[in-house]
Amino acid sequence: MQVSESTAEPFVPSRGGLRALRDAARDCRGCDLYKSATQTVFGSGPSRARLLFVGEQPGDREDIEGEPFVGPAGGLLDRALAEAGIERGDAYLTNAVKHFKFVPQDRGKRRIHKKPSTTEMRACRPWLVAELRVVRPEIVVCLGATAAQALMGGDFRISRERGVLLDFPEIAGVEPRPVSLLATTHPSAVVRAPDRREAYRGLVSDLEVVAAALGS
Ligand code: URA
Ligand code: SF4
Repeated sequence: MQVSESTAEPFVPSRGGLRALRDAARDCRGCDLYKSATQTVFGSGPSRARLLFVGEQPGDREDIEGEPFVGPAGGLLDRALAEAGIERGDAYLTNAVKHFKFVPQDRGKRRIHKKPSTTEMRACRPWLVAELRVVRPEIVVCLGATAAQALMGGDFRISRERGVLLDFPEIAGVEPRPVSLLATTHPSAVVRAPDRREAYRGLVSDLEVVAAALGS
């Protein structure tokens, strides 16, 4: 039996803007994650934004509402952005994987987030590439390891390279190339951190680096 590769590629329209992408993404069957999730959670924000944020995947709340970063992690991100002097409304927010992956608990009453596999990350990447091509940001901020590895490759380590403006890598289909990429902690990791205050300060200070770069 031939096993077909998991990829969103055949579902991604080669022409059109964000609206066309978002509409097409609703029917994506590029991997199995669409089967248990409620809906595709596509990126959201201005169609041209200087700043583009990439998270991991939608959470429980996002899966229900169909918008990225509207749950607890989004609330924390909102506060950190405000403190760093970045307008959330000026930025485009998206995720490396666009369906919620979870394991049911308490006989299906709760859904616990599960990290997407490398196969799922790779399958969903054409959507992220298309968003980058259309939005044409100057700076891309990766929230957490999944997002950073989706763009920088599997060897990338947040612990080593967070908080610094790196050259955006060359990626087929991402043209024009954003100038910089900065990786930082995922807001959900801040919530789980042993020293939450310090983790939060770290996130804000990384976002201040981004704010300064945008201002210059
Ligand atoms: N975590 C993410 O990575 N993305 C979201 O949209 C929400 C929570
Ligand atoms: Fe398509 Fe991505 Fe959803 Fe998989 S996770 S079905 S590739 S949109």
